[in-house]
Order: sequence, then C-alpha cells, then structure tokens
Amino acid sequence: MMARIKIIGNPELRLQGKVRISGAKNAVLPAIAAALLTKDKIKLKNVPLVKDVFTILTLMKEMGAEYSIRKNSLSLQIKNILFEEASYELVRAMRASILVLGPLLARRGKAIVALPGGCAIGSRPIDLHIHGLEKMGAKISLEHGYIQAEAGRLVGAEIEFEKKTVGGTENLLMAASLAKGESILKNCSLEPEVINLCELLVKMGAKIDGIGEELIRVKGVNELGGAIHEIIPDRIEAGTYLVASALTQGQITLTRTQPFHLTAIIEKLRFSGAEIEQVNSHTLRVTGSRKIKPQDITTSPYPGFPTDMQAQFTVLMSQAEGTSIITETIFDRRFSHINELLRLGANIDVSGDKAVVKGKTPLSGAQILATDLRASASLILAGLIARGETIINESQHLERGYEGIEMKLRSLGAYIEVLKD
Ligand code: UD1
Repeated sequence: MMARIKIIGNPELRLQGKVRISGAKNAVLPAIAAALLTKDKIKLKNVPLVKDVFTILTLMKEMGAEYSIRKNSLSLQIKNILFEEASYELVRAMRASILVLGPLLARRGKAIVALPGGCAIGSRPIDLHIHGLEKMGAKISLEHGYIQAEAGRLVGAEIEFEKKTVGGTENLLMAASLAKGESILKNCSLEPEVINLCELLVKMGAKIDGIGEELIRVKGVNELGGAIHEIIPDRIEAGTYLVASALTQGQITLTRTQPFHLTAIIEKLRFSGAEIEQVNSHTLRVTGSRKIKPQDITTSPYPGFPTDMQAQFTVLMSQAEGTSIITETIFDRRFSHINELLRLGANIDVSGDKAVVKGKTPLSGAQILATDLRASASLILAGLIARGETIINESQHLERGYEGIEMKLRSLGAYIEVLKD
C-alpha cells in the first residue's frame, strides 16, 4: 500500500519534549524467528508494533504459530511446524525473513525460503548464511528462485565469516544451538541485537560461550524450551531523534534508551556541536547548538558508526558550516536519499562510496520519494527544516521500523501528517 506524508517545515523549528524509545526492530525479528526452535511458549516484552514485526508474525502463523499481543508484549508458540516455506511475497516485503532458515533447518530438517532479490539498498547476498549451514551438514540448492534446504540433524562445525554479517551470525547461532556437538563461530558480528538474541537463546537452554565477542562457541543441545525475554531499546530510532534535536537546535529527552549502545553516534553528534547529557542509566537529553560543525563519518560494523544512521547524519551535515565526507562501507548504492535531498536544496556530490556534503544550504519543501526505511527517516528530518510543504511519497517504508513516528514528532512540536488517499 502506498502512503504519503505531509510535513510543513520551518528552519526556525525547535523540537522540544520527551520521547520514549521503542524496542529494537532488529532485535525482535531474530527473537521471533528463535521461537521456531522450541515447541514451548516464548514471551517477548518491549516489542515495537511496527510493520516488519507483523510481516514476520504472518510468516510464523503460516508455519503453525499461535500468538497474541497485549500492548507491547508478544506471546508466541509453535507446537508443531506445519509448513516450512517462506514465500517470495513475504521475503520481498522483508529480507529479514531469511532468519527463519537456520531455525527451520535445525528443528524440522527442512526449509524452503525465497531468495531475496535485489533491494533498494544495493545487492544483499546471503552466501555466508548458506555456506555456514552447508558446513553444518545441510544440503542446499536453488530452484525456481527458492532456497531448498534439507538436513538430518545439523552437526556442529567451525565457521569463520569471511566478512561480518549480522543476520548470518544470528542464523548460525540459532542453528548451532540445536545442532549435534560444538560449533565455533569466528568473526561474529558484535551488534547489541546479536547479544540480545544470545541472551534469549541461553534462557531457552542454549549453551553459548563468548557472547558479545568475535569468537563464539555453541554446544548444541537436543531441545530448547520456553523463555521470557525483553527486547533492547532501538538504537537507530534513538539516534534518529538525537539527530532531530541536533538539527533543530531543539532539546529532546529520550527515555527508555540504552546510552552505551549509542557511543559512536553520540560521539559524532558531540563533535558536531550538540550537547548530550546522560540524565540516568536509560535517559539522555540532547540540546542542539546554533552552529553545526562538519564531521566526516565512515560507516562500519558495531561498535563503529552504523550504516542505518548514515542517511539521517547526511541531513544534519547539510546544515553544518563546511564540508563533510560520508563514506558508506557496508552497502553499495545506499545513497538513494541523496537525490531527494538535492530536490530540497542540499549540495551533495556522490562518487563511489563517498558523499561530499557541502553546508550550510537552506532547504525548501518539495515532493520527494522515499526508497527505503532509513532513507525515509532522513527525508522526514530534512522536511522538518525545509521551508514550506514537503510531501514524502511512498512513505510506507517508514512504518516498517519506526513505531508511532508521526505521533512522536508531533508531540515534540512538528507539523507532520499521514495523508490518506
Ligand atoms: C542487518 C540489519 C540492517 C543493517 C545491517 C548492517 C536486521 C534485520 N537488519 O542487516 O538494518 O543495515 O545489519 O548493520 O538486523 N553480506 C554478504 N553475504 C552474506 C550476508 C551479508 O556479503 O551472506 C554482506 C552484505 O551484503 C553487506 C554486509 O555483508 O554488505 C553486512 O550485511 P549484514 O550484516 O548481513 O546485514 P543484515 O543482517 O541483512
């Protein structure tokens, strides 16, 4: 479904108030997939009610899950896996559907998952997931656009990721938890979402050593059980509001956040002139400064600067006094927001994996097009400070990952509305 968002922007806008950060989309998706590993009930708290969560729940239901949601708590149980296929429609809607591959193979010995095609942020292969599962004994082939995977009981293996992959690490951790014998995973991703998944798996009975490190050892068990687990706060949502405050010389207090997951983002924002104060262990207050200083950033795996914050930071740098160089090392073609920012009046040159942003340029509202989730967030930020009306077309991407963003921004003083056609 197409959606449009209208923003009346204003360079004088000062966002002010409190915003409560939701649970992390990228932590809840693997946690839901992990429910496939057991016949018992999994209860998740602090679940963000965003589109991607409903997409993976649709998939779970097709596979035999029963679930209920109350406020932000989800109770999920898959007594028997009735169907082990993830359709092209669902995988196309959300690439993270690939996270069911490891758990399905581990519990059921069979999985059929559509191969994710090209997506708006460059080619995103899944070869590392597949090689790892093959090393654990799975037979995998590609037919009619579907990955067909089969295995007896998976067996523990030593797997070194050629490059860091968040989803690959998660898929193999889940598979290894039910495999026969020990797996040694090397060059694992260090993202807090991976750690959050490990914590859930341990509560379910998995034997994992080295959580939060690059080398993780998993001793497979015969069976996993139910668990109650809290999803960590969304660091990308928090980072987006931090930038919103810095961009508008605002003062926003973020509650229910996890400041130490935000270290790289906070550091860059401080260098750019924003004041960020930790009010208590889960609360941050950010005050934007009149003058924004240019900053170069290079995206890299955690604990580096996250690629999911690159687009938002680019908007901030368009208002800095001077030139910044943004280098994107994780995904190719992740600059689709830039053409739209140019329409608003930004001065940005892209060459290869670099964007050279020259500030400070006044922005003026226009019709623009959202292409992916984080690009959409950056366009909203730009719209807030662009003079006049901005219409963001195809803004449905936003609903995939930001819980209540219009409402949250309105409560901070923005004029933003979803247009119903
Ligand atoms: C996850 C996040 C996404 C974030 C990304 C990088 C979720 C649901 N999504 O995506 O928001 O932008 O991490 O932080 O958690 N790669 C391969 N082969 C593979 C797997 C990955 O070459 O088999 C490459 C990718 O093309 C990319 C890089 O590795 O260049 C990192 O990708 P990965 O960490 O796997 O991203 P996702 O798990 O898909």
